[in-house]
Amino acid sequence: NDGTLEALRAKLREALAELLLGDPRTMADIRRRFTPRPSDVHIVTYPKAGTSWVQEVAWLVNHDGDIECAGRVPSSQRTVYIELSTPAVDKLAVLAASAGPRHIKWHHSAPLLPPRVVEEGRVIYLYRNPRDTAVSWYHFQRMNTLYGFTGTFAQFLDLFLRGDVAYGDYMQSVLSWWALRGRANVLVLSYEELSRNLPAAVRRIASFLGKAPTDGQVAAIAAHCSFERMAANPMTNASSMPKVAGEGEFMRRGQVGDWRRYFTPEQVRRMDEWIAQRAGSEAAPPFEYE
Ligand code: A3P
Repeated sequence: NDGTLEALRAKLREALAELLLGDPRTMADIRRRFTPRPSDVHIVTYPKAGTSWVQEVAWLVNHDGDIECAGRVPSSQRTVYIELSTPAVDKLAVLAASAGPRHIKWHHSAPLLPPRVVEEGRVIYLYRNPRDTAVSWYHFQRMNTLYGFTGTFAQFLDLFLRGDVAYGDYMQSVLSWWALRGRANVLVLSYEELSRNLPAAVRRIASFLGKAPTDGQVAAIAAHCSFERMAANPMTNASSMPKVAGEGEFMRRGQVGDWRRYFTPEQVRRMDEWIAQRAGSEAAPPFEYE
């Protein structure tokens, strides 16, 4: 009956929301059952930094520009979001049975990942300037039914600066990975760098993964991964994601500098202060806002 169905729906929503937040039980399960392999590729980001973008680029680079497969199999199946456990699929079992190379997505900061991934895994970390990240996160949390955020941007920014959002404090994530940027097994890139020159970013990722794509492959990968093409492609546009009506698409604008339409000068000042305070004496990346 309707009551039972609604109760089940509520339970499911609760369970999913908990898991999306990086439920410690899921992380404990990962630590117990996930065995890293040298051929794994780990895509690590704070949400909304451009995860889906860099994961598509990296997958294509590592699969010799296999556009045919990328046009047939959803990106979320080719790169497994390991921290999001799903009731119907045991992703850790799927990963264990996979011939590889396995592409795995994480949103946590370095101290929360299994140490072997951080120390030995091939990690691509993508960051984005925090103003655009906050704007994108605000829209995503309004649009995605798991969050269903109904507040204003100003209210969301307060939560973001307090770290009271899924995956916590943005600067904690960035600083934890920025500190590892000198390691041979960690490649740190920015959204703005991809946005400025995608073919150059394709080559950096290729060199990191020990691949030597032809000029034609680089051009094909960059074309496939343009905002317009990814937005129109059902394998990459997350069109099946449960959405709140009227709140727009996952592939929203894909721009550097959209923050200008949201931030007041006072909010810019507060965020700059927050960055300086969070960084303290640690090195922080040079965020690009234009
Ligand atoms: P906006 O909301 O600013 O448009 P994530 O994959 O980490 O959730 O990040 C989503 C953000 O990356 C969204 O930002 C989305 O539009 C942007 N994005 C995804 N694919 C992109 C692409 N090919 N080019 C530029 N931006 C892209």
